[in-house]
Amino acid sequence: MSYKILHIVGNRPHLIKLAPVSRAIKKETQLKQLIVHTGQHYDEMMSDHFIKQLGLPTPSYNLEIGSSGALRQMGTTLIKLEDILKIEIPDLILVYGDTNSTAAGAIAAAKSNIPLGHVESGLREFDKQIPEEVNKLITDSVTDLFFVPTHTGIMNLKNEGKENHVFHTGDVGLDLVFQSEKEIQLAESILGQNNLEKNSYILMTCHRANNTASKDKLQAILEAANELNQKIFFPIHPRTANAIEAYNLGHLISNVNWIVHEPIGFFETQALIKNARFCLTDSGGIIKESYFHETPAIITDVQTEWLETIEEGWCHVAGPNKHKILELAKTIKPGIKGKKSLGDGRASNKIVEIIVNFLSTK
Ligand code: UD1
Repeated sequence: MSYKILHIVGNRPHLIKLAPVSRAIKKETQLKQLIVHTGQHYDEMMSDHFIKQLGLPTPSYNLEIGSSGALRQMGTTLIKLEDILKIEIPDLILVYGDTNSTAAGAIAAAKSNIPLGHVESGLREFDKQIPEEVNKLITDSVTDLFFVPTHTGIMNLKNEGKENHVFHTGDVGLDLVFQSEKEIQLAESILGQNNLEKNSYILMTCHRANNTASKDKLQAILEAANELNQKIFFPIHPRTANAIEAYNLGHLISNVNWIVHEPIGFFETQALIKNARFCLTDSGGIIKESYFHETPAIITDVQTEWLETIEEGWCHVAGPNKHKILELAKTIKPGIKGKKSLGDGRASNKIVEIIVNFLSTK
């Protein structure tokens, strides 16, 4: 018996989570897979570069939803998936994380009566003002197989009364970091190319709507970064580049300490995280990757769903608050080593075992 798995992805972080899962599926002879890319991210460095760099299968469909309001993105995804799901008739749909593409994919699966697996399920920030939180809630409300990275995620689902088909797998992002050790080492050449020395620069990222939609918040983060008076490598998300231009904040990222760069690949990002003095970020992905590489991080979001990284002293929440960022930067140091609360690097193998078991006993 062979089963067809259809992955729905659309953003840069999805491609990172998809890579180890699709590699594990490839080794399982009972499973076939195909990818639907919603096209929410469409720039070369936000999408195709990751498909090539991570050796992902070429998506069978691109829905080309592009950038627009969340409802338009989700509505277009739903309309276009209707025909595709009728043609492909998959045995299971997999969605990843918490973006607009994730939530739309989940609704499409549920309305088409196709079993749904959610990779990175169970995480919560308990604030419906955050677009990603609404996506998390929509997705988990119709999920059949919950693939949960952390113990906290398991508890969140339990508190919502979800206990069946809930699996504590660990984080698939860690699998990819383990699998990419050699490539990450090679990518360390990016340090030399940018005159960066180990432990003497800060890796900064910023893209959450909460920070980019407010001139004051973005300004506070950029001013704090400036006052750190250290080299800052800043791979800039297109949303943030647009916001900096619109708010006339370009002067805050223009002195000699700044290396403002277009978005970079997965291996280069890991190499930069691994060797940074610390990361200054509002990205959930970089928060957990700082933890994997044992590099401290200051979080410019007001909270994080990756609570373990905070409890173990690696990551610290400052929010978009200049004073707090500068205070934390003075005392930042490594946290507790070796706790491995985000998994053992085998999450994707566990997910595939569970899928095969589920489909063959259905
Ligand atoms: C989305 C996800 C977020 C994820 C992030 C990773 C939602 C609600 N949010 O946020 O969870 O962490 O992706 O990047 O789905 N743009 C481009 N080129 C691209 C992609 C985006 O120029 O390839 C610009 C456009 O100006 C667009 C803006 O970025 O308007 C925002 O893009 P969008 O995909 O809506 O949200 P992200 O901020 O990327």
